[in-house]
Amino acid sequence: MDTIILAHNYQRPDVQDRADLTGDSLKLCQIARETECNDIIFCGVDFMAETAAILNPEKRVFMPEPLSQCPMAHQVTSEDILQAKKVYPGALVVAYVNTTAAVKAVSDTICTSANAVSIVSRLDTDTILFTPDRNLGSYVKRFVDKEVIIVPEGGNCPTHHQLMAEDVLLMKENHPQATVAVHPECRPEVIDLADYVGGTEGILNYVKNTDSKEVIIGTENGMLHKIRNECPGKIVHALSAYTVCPNMKMITRESVEYVLREKPVENMVMVDPEVARKAKKAIDAMFELME
Ligand code: 13P
Ligand code: SF4
Repeated sequence: MDTIILAHNYQRPDVQDRADLTGDSLKLCQIARETECNDIIFCGVDFMAETAAILNPEKRVFMPEPLSQCPMAHQVTSEDILQAKKVYPGALVVAYVNTTAAVKAVSDTICTSANAVSIVSRLDTDTILFTPDRNLGSYVKRFVDKEVIIVPEGGNCPTHHQLMAEDVLLMKENHPQATVAVHPECRPEVIDLADYVGGTEGILNYVKNTDSKEVIIGTENGMLHKIRNECPGKIVHALSAYTVCPNMKMITRESVEYVLREKPVENMVMVDPEVARKAKKAIDAMFELME
C-alpha cells in the first residue's frame, strides 16, 4: 500500500468509514511514526497533520482541507513560551500536541490528552510550564506534586469549554442509569461530575469495559460514531448536541477522494526544516518518556 488514510475520532462518520485507521491524536502519531507508506492523507486538524509530517520528513503528508485548523493550537506563540522561560528559568516546557510546530520547537517535550499526567509526572523537575489548555493543565495538577504554570492563562478548546456543569446535571436527570465520560479539555466543574475522564481512545475503552449499559459522552460528537461502531451493545448519548468542532468537520468524503486522486501540492503539509528538527526532538522526548 502506497498511501494510508488516517482519520481522527472527531471526523465525520463517512470520513471515518473511508479511513484505513482511526484513532486519537496519540495513536495517529504512533501510526504516522511507524507506517511504511510513502504518502499519508491526514483527516484531522493542522497540528495533527503537521506532527505526522515532522515525524516523517521523507514522506508526503496531505490534508484534505488545509484550512482545518485547531483554534486552541493558535492561542500560544513561540514568543509567549520564550517569555515564560525567562520568568521561570528552571522550568521544563510541556506543550500539548495541540500546538504549532514553532511552539513544539521551543518546548522540552509534548503530551497528548492520553498521557499528559504521566508525562508531567515523569519529568525530572518541580516546575512545569504547560501550554496552552488551562483545563487539561488544571486536570494534570490534580495528580502531580509539582508546580504547573499554565501559559497562556486562558487557553482552551472552544468546543469543550462550552460544556457546563448544568449540561451534565440535566443529562443525568434525563438518563438516571447512565454514567458520564468526559474529555480533560472540559471545565473542572464538568470533570468533577464525571465517572471517567480521558482522551478519546480512553473514553472508547471506558465504554467498552464499563458494566454501565448507558454512557453520556462529553467530547466532540464524532466520537459517538466510533463508539456505536465498536460497542454495539451500549447506549451512548451526546452530553450536548452542540459539542461539534467545526474545524474537524471541514473535511468531507469528497475532499478525501480528491486528495487521494490528485495528491495536489497545495494540500501537502510543509514545515520549515529547522523548526521541524527542533519540534521532532520534543515529540521524540514524549515517546522516550512513555517507555
Ligand atoms: P485526543 O487526543 O483525545 O484524540 O483529543 C484531541 C483533541 O483535539 C481533543 O479536542
Ligand atoms: Fe482543537 Fe477543540 Fe477541535 Fe480538538 S475539538 S481540534 S482541541 S478546537
